Order: sequence, then C-alpha cells, then structure tokens
Amino acid sequence: MNVQDELILDAQATDVLFLEARTANSWADGEISEQTLQAIYALTRMAPTAMNTQPLRISWIRSAEARARLVAHMSEGNQAKTLTAPLVAVLSYDTDWHELMPTTAPHAAGMIPTFAANHALRQGMAANNAHIQAGFFIMAARAAGLAAGPMGGFDASGIDAEFNSGTQRKAFLVVNLGRPNGIVDRDRLHRLEFDAATQTL
Ligand SMILES: Cc1cc2nc3c(=O)[nH]c(=O)nc-3n(C[C@H](O)[C@H](O)[C@H](O)COP(=O)(O)O)c2cc1C
Repeated sequence: MNVQDELILDAQATDVLFLEARTANSWADGEISEQTLQAIYALTRMAPTAMNTQPLRISWIRSAEARARLVAHMSEGNQAKTLTAPLVAVLSYDTDWHELMPTTAPHAAGMIPTFAANHALRQGMAANNAHIQAGFFIMAARAAGLAAGPMGGFDASGIDAEFNSGTQRKAFLVVNLGRPNGIVDRDRLHRLEFDAATQTL
C-alpha cells in the first residue's frame, strides 16, 4: 500500500503535516506574528468537540516576564527549550465550558443545569475534548510552517496559579513553537504497525 496514493492531500501537505513533521526541541530565529497565531486558532477551532463545547483555552507566552514565570514551573529537562523557543503556548481546558453553551450549543441548552450540577462530568469532558483540540492545534501550527514541541512535564498547579488564577481553567499541555531549523536530535521512534494498533471486526 502506498499512503500517498490513498490521499487527497498533495505530497507536500502530507509531508508538512504528517510524514516529515517532527516534535521540535530547537528552532530557527524569527518572530511569530499575531496574524500567524490568529490563523493557527482559526484552524484549531474547527476541531470537533462533544456538543461543540470547545473547552480549549490558549495563553500565548510572548513577554520575557511571562516566559520566566512559565519556565519556573517546567520540569528541569523542559526548561532550556521553553526559554529559547520563539513563542510558547499554554493550553488549558475550562471546566466552566457549560456557561458558553447558549452560544456554542444552543441545541443542547436544556442540559446546562445537568452540567452545572456535576463538576466531575464537566472536568472529564473538558479534558477529553481539549486534548482533541490540542491535536488540531499542533497540526494547525505545522500548516502555518511551524514546528511544535508539546510538553506534559510541568507543575500544572504552579502554572494555573501564574496564568489561570480566578478562573476554572486547568493547564494540560505546554507547546513550544518556532520555525523548523532542520536539526533532528534523534531518529523517529517506532510507530506501531497497522496490525499492532487496530483490529477489524
Ligand atoms: C502529551 C505530550 C507530552 C509530551 N511531553 C514531553 C515533555 O514533557 N518533554 C519532552 O521533551 N517531550 C515531550 N513530548 C514529546 C514527545 O516525546 C514526542 O512528541 C514524541 O516522542 C514523538 O516525536 P516525533 O514527533 O519527533 O516523532 C510530549 C508529547 C506529547 C504529545
């Protein structure tokens, strides 16, 4: 089976989005414009979410002052690259997503009281759906010509105290962003084969 033969994307798009894209730990110099961030979000927000609830919230860390506050909460192995990335995004989910349902999910507005009364249900749905949005975020960054470095190694309560205080937002992923510099620090790790990861019933 030839993957490209089965796709409607052109080969360059397949490479940029999937086959050649790597998780980045260093980047070329160059600022990322506000317009690029807006384009990334314009694609990210098209991710499917349960009832269209869209729990993802993004903090763009641009200033040196905010960067220093963020880096202090990254695990040691993630600190240097988070300090040197051209831009960093903190991805959080909002457990109070139900408050926007009159706008995001008017078809399901009758369920607002059920969600309002059940924080655990909201939290589970927020985490699930925001992770789907995070996958779209990484792909959107690639589509904009950037290389993303997602990281889960950080003190989430520390980041929440810095950037999410007074809200019901919970940080779950920090993503370094910048233009690719062509440096590959290790070979691609093994990806599971079709038969190892799927079953046909
Ligand atoms: C949810 C998540 C958490 C991750 N956490 C870290 C991290 O804390 N530190 C790090 O260096 N890399 C982290 N990574 C990067 C992964 O190790 C990397 O994406 C994976 O090995 C695939 O690499 P590749 O895209 O170059 O093939 C994380 C990736 C994801 C998706």
